[in-house]
Amino acid sequence: MPQAYAIVDHAYDVVVVGAGGAGLRAVVGLVEQGLKTACLTKVFPTRSHTVAAQGGISAALGNMGPDDWRYHMYDTVKGSDWLGDQDAIEYMCRAAPEAIIELEHYGVPFSRTPEGKIYQRAFGGMTIEYGKSQALRTCAAADRTGHAMLHTLYQQSLRHKAEFFVEYIALDLLMDDDSACRGVLAWNLDDGTLHRFRAQSTVLATGGYGRAYFSCTSAHTCTGDGNAMVLRAGLPLQDMEFVQFHPTGIYGAGCLITEGARGEGGYLVNANGERFMERYAPSAKDLASRDVVSRAMTMEVREGRGCGKDKDHIFLHLDHLDPAVLAERLPGISESAKIFAGVDVTRQPIPVQPTVHYNMGGIPTNPGGEVLTKRGADANAKVPGLMAVGEAACVSVHGANRLGSNSLLDLVVFGRAAAQQAGKTVTKGGAAPSAPKASEERALGRFDRFRHAQGKEPTAKLRLGMQRVMQGHCAVFRTGPLLEEGVRELAAVRARLPEVSVTDRSLVWNSDLVETLELDNLMSQAAVTVSGAANRLESRGAHAREDYPERDDANWMKHTLAWCDDKGQVTIDYRPVHLETLTDEVQTIPPKPRVY
Ligand code: FUM
Repeated sequence: MPQAYAIVDHAYDVVVVGAGGAGLRAVVGLVEQGLKTACLTKVFPTRSHTVAAQGGISAALGNMGPDDWRYHMYDTVKGSDWLGDQDAIEYMCRAAPEAIIELEHYGVPFSRTPEGKIYQRAFGGMTIEYGKSQALRTCAAADRTGHAMLHTLYQQSLRHKAEFFVEYIALDLLMDDDSACRGVLAWNLDDGTLHRFRAQSTVLATGGYGRAYFSCTSAHTCTGDGNAMVLRAGLPLQDMEFVQFHPTGIYGAGCLITEGARGEGGYLVNANGERFMERYAPSAKDLASRDVVSRAMTMEVREGRGCGKDKDHIFLHLDHLDPAVLAERLPGISESAKIFAGVDVTRQPIPVQPTVHYNMGGIPTNPGGEVLTKRGADANAKVPGLMAVGEAACVSVHGANRLGSNSLLDLVVFGRAAAQQAGKTVTKGGAAPSAPKASEERALGRFDRFRHAQGKEPTAKLRLGMQRVMQGHCAVFRTGPLLEEGVRELAAVRARLPEVSVTDRSLVWNSDLVETLELDNLMSQAAVTVSGAANRLESRGAHAREDYPERDDANWMKHTLAWCDDKGQVTIDYRPVHLETLTDEVQTIPPKPRVY
């Protein structure tokens, strides 16, 4: 029986969990409509991981050459390897220019062209005229675009009456017996109090779970807490096997070197000094989509042409670029290269390797941010009171592979759409539903169990075990036997979780307990990721099976849905991809071989 905790009760129209780009954009839209909105965040809002986004945000503004949102839509469907839902992709690409102008009006300090327009750079997979030539579509604030956006959105949310609960850890959703969400239970790290947030709508904006892997560009906080809460609520996650490896993480350190570096003219070479991307993607070369470039780099290393004494990485050259361009457009990565690789980019190449960067999968939603599940024959059944946005969500606009700079776009377009949708379904100042006792007791039971865990396994040791299994078994290239072994090894690590050792019993600033709760969250997401990958017998986007090297549209053009029970047992089902478009202004883009 858990200790009897005193719980502070709150009632809101809407509660948003997470204060990254998507969470804050939703908050701004909610408070602009006068909805009583709480935002819970485990770090101070401007420390959310969006702050680390570098290269930019896509939109067919056409500031630096011809462009059209239909080209953007085509590129995104192709980039997704035909797993993205075409209605949602149409929605996002069509809404993009307006979303950027709105950000500009909110105050985002974008870089400028000589005539004063928003500066746009080249990014991978972005073309004009349906693949004919490279587009300049990615709007940038130097190489600190996420930082600029996050600070602007936070300032906007403060202009209205958003109420922030900073350094609150969301523990679990409060779910009714009829599967409706009634709010969330949270723990205030600062004073150790527990809080029940009741709301007509709960919006999960909790980001990705990059930290399930050993090497990633994600912050230590990226543990996919919302995803895990959804699994514990008995709901599925979608397409979790699609994990994006960014081609240019700094070798050894994992920090991001933006794709914008290649957009500004940087290029990759192997140990022989060869620009090998010309062989793998003759047209787009270094600006092919990320899955293609990461595979090519891995092949070069595997075939003995890797750089360095261990022949295990690739070089990214920027030293041929004008130092003034590096200083103006890429100051952040020039500094990162110096700090984390000891490299002066004006004179030396940066050692890089593919590094986990983004989760295409997440909580299934419609374009209005409403969470979906499969109930009987209904593959699009809504979960009342629950919404999700940003990397936590799977709308699905990225399908099997996201294009660089479509993530920041996803955050603002669907953060805004979710606020609009909540405006239609939530009654301003209406009664917040009561929170069901059983659900709260389950959440408290889990919290209390970990708080008093007295085993012998340090959290960090179990986490490292999980991360090594993921890195070794579910990376750029996969095979059936390797994935099956990954499923078994992950289960073995998970089985040791009840033996975890939490030495600090305090409720105040107990980072030992926070990391253990996060580890539990990561473990269930790791399980659905590897199981989804083992089940998908084809290669599509970021999921490259050496034993099934072809895309198989006849059997596998479908989204994976994965449930995970308390013991880590995974159940898999599928739902159809939406090939139909939203309007008849555009036609469905039929599948074809994906070459760059
Ligand atoms: O390379 C980058 O700047 C990352 C951008 C993105 O993931 O969208």
